[in-house]
Amino acid sequence: MERAAVVAGLGGWVPPTIVTNDQLAGVLDTSDEWIRRRTGIRERRWVSPGQSTGDLAVEAGRRALSSAGLEDVDAVVLATSSPDRHCPATAPEVATRLGLGPVPAFDVAAVCTGFVYALATGAGMVALGAARSVLVIGADAFSTLLAPDDRSTRVIFGDGGGAVVLRTGSPTEPGALTGLNLGSDGSLSDLIEVPAGGSRQRSTGLPAKTEDTYFTMQGQAVYAQAVRRMAESVKETARRTGWDPAEIDRFVLHQANARILEAVARRLGLPPERFLSNIEVRGNTVAASIPLALADGVASGELRPGHKVVLAGFGGGLTWGSMALVWPRLAPPATASAEPAVASAGADPGPP
Ligand code: UT7
Repeated sequence: MERAAVVAGLGGWVPPTIVTNDQLAGVLDTSDEWIRRRTGIRERRWVSPGQSTGDLAVEAGRRALSSAGLEDVDAVVLATSSPDRHCPATAPEVATRLGLGPVPAFDVAAVCTGFVYALATGAGMVALGAARSVLVIGADAFSTLLAPDDRSTRVIFGDGGGAVVLRTGSPTEPGALTGLNLGSDGSLSDLIEVPAGGSRQRSTGLPAKTEDTYFTMQGQAVYAQAVRRMAESVKETARRTGWDPAEIDRFVLHQANARILEAVARRLGLPPERFLSNIEVRGNTVAASIPLALADGVASGELRPGHKVVLAGFGGGLTWGSMALVWPRLAPPATASAEPAVASAGADPGPP
C-alpha cells in the first residue's frame, strides 16, 4: 500500500514578552497607525535576553508531541534562519532537550518558506520508509537580526515556534500531505539578506561593517513577488491535488503582511475570510509563521477537522512552496502559547 505522511500533532509557542506598536513608536520614527495600515500588525512577541530560537523550538516541539500523544519520534527537522549558533545546526540540541535520543536531527534554511521545505523533507522521509514519525518544527528569533534603528524591518517581525508531528499513514486519510509544490529564484537573493557573517564576507579577511550584520529587505519588490509566487504556488498545489481552488476551505499562508493575504485572495478570486490570519498579534514570525497560524486557527475554531487546507510560504532565497491536506482531528493541546489569535472574519461557515 502507498505510504503518506499524515499530520498527527500540532503545537505553537511564543515568548511572553509583548512589544506593541506604541512601544516601537516610542523609540523609532513610526506610528501605531502606519504599522497597522501598512501591515495589519498591532503587537508581536520578542525573545528576552538570552532566549534563543532553540528555546522556542523546544517549547513548540513539546506541545506538538503532546498533541500527537507521542514521547518519541524517528527524526527532527527544524526550519530556521536564525539558528542558535552559526555552527552546528540547532536541531540536534533541540532533539536532545526534548529527550528524543540519538535520532537524526538537522536544520533546513529557507527563511519564511522554511516550514514548507521542512515539511516536504519530513514527509519525504516518511514516504521513503526512512522514518515512521518526524517532528517538523519552524522556529525563528528574527528580532535578534534586526538593526535597532531600522523602522522598516523592526516593526514587522515577531519571534515564535510552531511544530507538527508527521506519522506514517495512508494517502486517503485526513491529515495526509499532498500536492507539494516548491520553487526558488536565486537571481533575486539580494532582496532579502543578512549581507555579512557568511563565507562570502568572512573570506575577505576584513571585519564586517556593523550595518551589514543586520537583516535587510527591499519591501516593495518582495511584496510583489510574495503575492505572485504564493498565488501561483497555491494554484499549482490545488491542481496537483485535484482540487478546484474554489472548494478549498482554508488557506494558511505565510503571515508577512495582512495586505499580502488580501492581495493573494483577490488574485485567486477567493473570499478573504478563507485566509487565516494571526498577524495582528504575532507579526511575521518567519519559519514559525505557518505552524503558528495553524495552531492559532485550531484554538480559535477557524480551522476545523474536514476543512480542505492549502499551506503556502514565501521568503528569502527567493523561495516559495505549498502543500495540501484535509485537516485531521487532533488531540489538544494544539497550542499552549497564548490566547488564540486568529482574526479571519469567520463569515465562511466552512465545510459541512
Ligand atoms: O517574510 C518574507 C517576505 N516578506 C514580505 O513579504 C514583506 C513584503 N513587504 C511588505 O510587507 C511591505 O513592503 C512593508 C511592510 C515592508 C513596507 O510597506 P510599504 O507600504 O511597501 O512601504 P514602503 O517600503 O513603500 O515605504 C513607504 C514609506 C517610505 O517613506 P517615503 O520614502 O515614502 O517617504 C518609508 O520610508 O513608508 C516609510 N516607512 C515607514 N514609515 C513609518 C517604512 N517603514 C516605516 C515605518 N513607519 N515603520
